Amino acid sequence: MINKDIYYVGVNDHQIDLFEGQFVVENGMAYNSYVIMDDKIAIMDSVDAKFTDEWLANIDKVLNGRTPDYLIVSHMEPDHSANIDNLVNKYPNITVVGTMMAFKMMKQFFNKDYQKIVVKEKDILNLGKHSLTFIMAPNVHWPEVMVTYDMNTKTLFSADAFGKFGALDVEEDWACEARRYYFGIVGRFGAQVQMLLNKLASYEIEMICPLHGPILDNNLAYYLNLYQTWSKYETETEGVMIAYTSVYGHTKKAVELLKDKLEANNCKVVFCDLAREDMAEAVEDAFRYGKLVLATTTYNADIFPTMKVFIDALIERNYQKKKLAFIENGSWGPIANKIMKAMFEKCKDITYLDTNITILSSISDKNIAEIDSLAAELLK
Ligand code: FEO
Repeated sequence: MINKDIYYVGVNDHQIDLFEGQFVVENGMAYNSYVIMDDKIAIMDSVDAKFTDEWLANIDKVLNGRTPDYLIVSHMEPDHSANIDNLVNKYPNITVVGTMMAFKMMKQFFNKDYQKIVVKEKDILNLGKHSLTFIMAPNVHWPEVMVTYDMNTKTLFSADAFGKFGALDVEEDWACEARRYYFGIVGRFGAQVQMLLNKLASYEIEMICPLHGPILDNNLAYYLNLYQTWSKYETETEGVMIAYTSVYGHTKKAVELLKDKLEANNCKVVFCDLAREDMAEAVEDAFRYGKLVLATTTYNADIFPTMKVFIDALIERNYQKKKLAFIENGSWGPIANKIMKAMFEKCKDITYLDTNITILSSISDKNIAEIDSLAAELLK
């Protein structure tokens, strides 16, 4: 039991290699699900398809011979919805509760209609002592998403919001994997996360039960503030991220020089070789720090492939409110800086530093002086 009448029935996934087919999750993943035991019994979401038996057994244990009345579906992504049909088959009298859009998706996934209650903003479902209010949260992460507030325990069932990568039986820092999860998965939807946070401001919340990651039940201001910072695309930590690609080491030498100069002045530097490091970690850091230096080679009359993937990943996620500088390398016709800058044209509130550097094959004395100027600008 987590709290009065609320039980955890989720599962840990250590079989997974890539979450959502792309995110490396070395410490696995948790698919959380909860049961509220009251006059009426509500099950909060299901779990990934691989864990049907474990999930149903967890529920059985909590039910202790009783029968569930409701399955609340807050999100239809299969990591949470895959077992809806299996639960209904086991408990045919259960009523499924979700948004209109959730039921449309249910039909698409399972080709079936269920006994249902369609809910909209601020609809209430009484279980007895517990009274559940449904709050629409479109695009946090999919359009059908809603969160659920239990007035009795002041608990927010937050769907994907406030989730993180990592199974619950592994100890790790919350913010690091929550930030990588946030920017990887819902980073694009800052405005929608802001809408949800504004709605939640009128609820007193003492516990957050997300669909991934640990239950949050103390110092909630810390988590709520981080979500404010992330969804407003504000700088979380002062410092410079240097993201680079280097084919033969000359570009790397230039950014190492820049890094040394910045660090010699006590500036926090995150140094990332985009061809070798986790792309989701790189994306997370680009949003975390306020200044970003991008260094790459001209390649096939374009920019180096991993730099292109990186910049595209930032733009897709509404990258904004940052200071940028560019370093290019080319042995003939360098055009990488121009291409990189053009890619950011659609982004809001980007400030370009005055010093941008062109390396012709290897670092020249002129380049060394330019790196000094760039360091000085970044330290301002
Ligand atoms: Fe955890 Fe968007 O599913």
